[in-house]
Amino acid sequence: MKRILTYGTFDLLHEGHINIFKKARALGDYLIVAVSTDEFNKIKGKESYYPYEQRKKIVESIRFVDLVIPEENWEQKIDDIKTYKVDVVVMGDDWAGSDRFDYLKEHAELVFLPRTDGISTTKIKEDLNNK
Ligand code: CTP
Repeated sequence: MKRILTYGTFDLLHEGHINIFKKARALGDYLIVAVSTDEFNKIKGKESYYPYEQRKKIVESIRFVDLVIPEENWEQKIDDIKTYKVDVVVMGDDWAGSDRFDYLKEHAELVFLPRTDGISTTKIKEDLNNK
């Protein structure tokens, strides 16, 4: 059983999110998604439309997702890898080329997946605001 873990806010779910879930799940047998809590979003300078409990409910309804856990801080990743016996951590390639997550390589395989072009939660909000 190969277990995959990925992180994100996943507000106003869109095709880019579905693509990363599908591709991440295809790397193994069990996909865990750590969804950023509202408190952690504040730390990241983000404010989601949907509160955490609703984002969690939506993400856990996606058929590629097996388990949703809270992402509460930057430091939890090694604990998550150990707790959930994770084999592969998936990041969007917004982080590719950065050495920020290199420390995880001692504990799990680190895979960067390409972002889907032309869509983001920020863009959806901007487009709706400009209607
Ligand atoms: N993602 C993706 N393709 C997109 C948008 C997001 O692959 N077009 C991936 C990100 O790389 C990340 C995950 O989805 O691994 C969660 O990203 P998140 O920040 O929640 O989504 P964004 O749409 O980028 O949100 P925002 O505009 O608020 O930054």
